[in-house]
Amino acid sequence: MSVVTYTLKAGEVARVSGPARIEVVNGRILLVGSVYGEKSNLVIHELRSYSLKALAETELKVFLGSGGFFSVVDPSTEVVDDWLRVAEVIGGDFTLLKRLKVVVVGPPESGKTTLTAFIANYLRGRGLNCCILEGDVGQEDLAMPATIALAVVNKPFIWQRELSFSEFRFIGCISPRNCGSRIIASVVDLVNQALSKGCDVVVVNTDGWVSGRDGVSYKLELLRWVKPTHLVVLDQGLSDLMSNVFRGAIKVIRARPPTQPRVRSREERQRLRTEAYKRYFINSSVRTLRASEIGLIGVPPLNCAGVPVNKLLETFPELSAIASHIVRACKDDKELILLVDEYPHTGLLDTLRNEVYSKYSARLVISSVEDLKRCLMGVVGENMSEVAVGLVEDVRLEENDIVIKLRTPYNGPIKSLISGNIRLDEEYREVRKGE
Ligand SMILES: Nc1ncnc2c1ncn2[C@@H]1O[C@H](COP(=O)(O)OP(=O)(O)O)[C@@H](O)[C@H]1O
Ligand SMILES: [Mg+2]
Repeated sequence: MSVVTYTLKAGEVARVSGPARIEVVNGRILLVGSVYGEKSNLVIHELRSYSLKALAETELKVFLGSGGFFSVVDPSTEVVDDWLRVAEVIGGDFTLLKRLKVVVVGPPESGKTTLTAFIANYLRGRGLNCCILEGDVGQEDLAMPATIALAVVNKPFIWQRELSFSEFRFIGCISPRNCGSRIIASVVDLVNQALSKGCDVVVVNTDGWVSGRDGVSYKLELLRWVKPTHLVVLDQGLSDLMSNVFRGAIKVIRARPPTQPRVRSREERQRLRTEAYKRYFINSSVRTLRASEIGLIGVPPLNCAGVPVNKLLETFPELSAIASHIVRACKDDKELILLVDEYPHTGLLDTLRNEVYSKYSARLVISSVEDLKRCLMGVVGENMSEVAVGLVEDVRLEENDIVIKLRTPYNGPIKSLISGNIRLDEEYREVRKGE
């Protein structure tokens, strides 16, 4: 580790990249929208970088770990003044509007998370009661990936991971492509919660899916329902598009993306997610639940009425080859969904699928009890409210029931579970389907 002391003149800007720790010996700096004075100690994560501005002559002691970086840079290449302007425009509208809903959008690595934090910190510094809604399911930094969460900003912070969330909604995916409607409903729900709980401002971070027709349509749909007062866009083309679409109904403000961000690789993003899952389950225990006693939202075929196997064979005699493995079966006009205790071999599976389709025009979908293991689930308590996330550690078949062992930090009553499409291995790394 290296230690260097820097003296910055008022107005000078520096860029720092973690792992680093900065001690303000004297003077004042602006970092991610907050002012830090003498004796402040700031820790920069190894996968993050920021620009900071001296607000007076300032002496900093900078501790750099391996790969860390600190340099005084040309202020015109940095975004700090541009982001200050954005935060001031938003803050200036508070007197008139009384309640602010700010949504930040932009491509991946454009600075959304940092600008969201910057705006919230800045407005909190101006005396407003600020809340943050983390709406990026892939890099959710308040609760954990596959959720979106709300936090009251009760202290200055650099990265959302330093805050504690007050509420969250379970989405169950780390890509918005597969869960758009869950995300939109949850963001709207949590924005309303924030405002009803007395937040003057709620700043909403979003995922970076803004390209192509589908990405743009999804963002427009999200905005249509959230109805923000301010939309901050970290991209010129996207900002022009948003201004055209919303034509004065929403104040669209363009912000500059950082010029030299610490870009994260796919593996680094995965590592950040693993850290977040681990942190969430650190104080958890395993609960035993019975499928017959809880509701299962989106977990076919566990949640269907079930067709007895002998009845099933009367209609589909072809299935007799795997009859002894069928745990539960659900059927409608279009699909036959089976839960089995063991997958048939691929050749047999293909034959059965083809036969069922050609003879009955029904799609045969087979899932194994094993597929449920290590899946993340939303945990629903009283009044349909999501109270926790759970991880299925084991699924056991009993005579007439399915017993689920669920790891969760939650101890209260569990009414239902919500399924998702994330599986984690023993080390909390995501397991791709089929692995
Ligand atoms: N002003 C800045 N200067 C340099 N790097 C920055 C600045 N602001 C943010 N970064 C870094 O850029 C990367 C992307 O920023 P982030 O806010 O995470 O973007 P997004 O949420 O759009 O992916 C992060 O590593 C972040 O620490
Ligand atoms: Mg982000």
